[in-house]
Amino acid sequence: MILNIQKMVETAPALKIAIDGPAGAGKSTVARLAAKKLGYLYLDTGAMYRAATVLALRKGLSMEEPEEIAQAVAHAKIDLVHETGADGSPLLKVFLDGEDITFEIRSREVSLLVSPLSTIGPVRDSLVEQQRRLSEEGGVVLDGRDIGTVVLPNAEVKVFLTASAAERAKRRMKDFETRGENVSFDTVLKEIVERDKRDSTREIAPLKKAADAHEVVTDGMTVTEVVEKILEFCSHARAHERSRRELI
Ligand code: DC
Repeated sequence: MILNIQKMVETAPALKIAIDGPAGAGKSTVARLAAKKLGYLYLDTGAMYRAATVLALRKGLSMEEPEEIAQAVAHAKIDLVHETGADGSPLLKVFLDGEDITFEIRSREVSLLVSPLSTIGPVRDSLVEQQRRLSEEGGVVLDGRDIGTVVLPNAEVKVFLTASAAERAKRRMKDFETRGENVSFDTVLKEIVERDKRDSTREIAPLKKAADAHEVVTDGMTVTEVVEKILEFCSHARAHERSRRELI
């Protein structure tokens, strides 16, 4: 896969920030805002797995054809483009071979298939390689499931973001409603619980809190409060890094 990503602003070499957690914990919203505040590059790794799922669907490949999917992913061109919305909020657009698939990647069909697709080893290998390449210089915020454990085990800031399944289902329902997809709360909750189970019990790179990650439970917290917390972790990490250098 050739992944091109357009930087929102030029970044100086700086921290690597890993944000992991289950579906619907609000990772992408806070990761995107934290990156904007810091002037860092934001990489939504879930969007990469979702784009790979759209590709498999377009090619009529079933999840029983992992080698064919991996081949298709290796040859596809995915672009993540940062834009600013009309209200000034940061937006991430996703393109597959030049076509805008930003809306499609969040559909329920893709949400149901992305988890099985993400268990395919060679697909993960090619996406993880891109994620590491884009993070080499630091000044990045990555969100996903395996960032602190596999992709960037040396990240200076690791956050494990979570919330109760009911809270996460409520948030996902709102997303589906906005898209005009009507699904019952019980169905969304069941799908979220199943996805969490599959993501955390798979053999390769399961969803797991890194030993050195800060756990943040976001029930009852506003987005601003969560972002502030992440920025606090960053200040501590920078101070720690400075004193470490002074000792050398
Ligand atoms: O964060 P999300 O819901 O957009 O992620 C979609 C799926 O992609 C999720 O069910 C698991 C998978 N994923 C993964 O396996 N590893 C990542 N780093 C990011 C996402």
